Amino acid sequence: MPLVSMRQLLDEAAKGGYGVGAFNVNNMEQIQAIMEAARETKSPVIIQASRGARSYSQDKFLYHLMLAAAELYPEIPLVMHLDHGNSFETCKSAIDLGFTSVMMDGSLKEDGKTPATFEENVAVTRAVVELAHKCGVTVEGEIGVLGGIEDGHGAGGGGLEHVTDPAQAVEFVKKTGVDALAIAIGTSHGAYKFSKKPDGSVLKMDVLMEIHRRLPGVHLVMHGSSSVPKDLQDVINQYGGKLKPTWGVPVEEIQLGIRNGVRKINVDTDNRLAITGAIRKVFVEQPEKFDPRDYLKPAREAMKKVVALRMTQFGQAGHASDYAPVSIEEMKKFYAAK
Ligand code: G3H
Ligand code: 13P
Ligand code: ZN
Repeated sequence: MPLVSMRQLLDEAAKGGYGVGAFNVNNMEQIQAIMEAARETKSPVIIQASRGARSYSQDKFLYHLMLAAAELYPEIPLVMHLDHGNSFETCKSAIDLGFTSVMMDGSLKEDGKTPATFEENVAVTRAVVELAHKCGVTVEGEIGVLGGIEDGHGAGGGGLEHVTDPAQAVEFVKKTGVDALAIAIGTSHGAYKFSKKPDGSVLKMDVLMEIHRRLPGVHLVMHGSSSVPKDLQDVINQYGGKLKPTWGVPVEEIQLGIRNGVRKINVDTDNRLAITGAIRKVFVEQPEKFDPRDYLKPAREAMKKVVALRMTQFGQAGHASDYAPVSIEEMKKFYAAK
């Protein structure tokens, strides 16, 4: 099956009342881990590449690995999505390469750090929507700013300075025509999200619910959704790592989000933790090993376990063959008719 449209995947998720994990990748082992988890759980899946992933992999390598995944797992609807596109040109180059979905993160200026104005965000996102929809490609926009700066996709601070304003979200969707909307509700990227288990005062689930009430037909996206589980932290620290105590987003909060319009859930950090823990374990327990396969196989397996668990928790498990994927050509007609 060719790479498919994210819009269709999310429309189907909305009908079924479930969420779809969007997992970041940089290499073959991560793609294999996700595809094996998808096969095991019978899940449709979104695989995403950041700008960093594209440059790390010379993105053509990544693209052809994705084509291999689509060929080897024909029963799995598979989307290739650009995570945090920072400009029109970045989104255009992804579309030209064959991504079936792009995020235009116009909440920040092109540097990925400085908050943009609402007008700037609308203008660049609208331009991407016009191009992408002509090509049958899905667009995710973002309104409000995530916390955290370590990955260059946040404006810094604790994450509550730029919580999405529901009225602005409505105006943004009306003016841009995005298919999916990332909102800021107090999460941030990376491992260090919260210094204790977050409660209702930290994660703004009430804001999410209000946005869903006002925009019931729009697919909401939760970034920074790793749960940073203690068991994954422990493996790293047990084998010589130095992670400081930290908390992520509890899965129950994500599930509450899914009951309130969240259809795409971005997870990267949990998989990074799983991979690193597995590699450290081999290095410490079997220091005589030097064949990369001896540590990359357990790393791939550890990531697969995390992804399969999230697919089950988000509810996408069992839905891979619910529908016949429409082609990107058909999506062009879908958008032209709107
Ligand atoms: O949005 C952040 C993702 O975790 C990707 O991170 O920019 O380090 O590839 P990255
Ligand atoms: P985490 O760092 O919580 O995994 O978030 C990933 C993300 O939002 C990618 O866009
Ligand atoms: Zn993100």
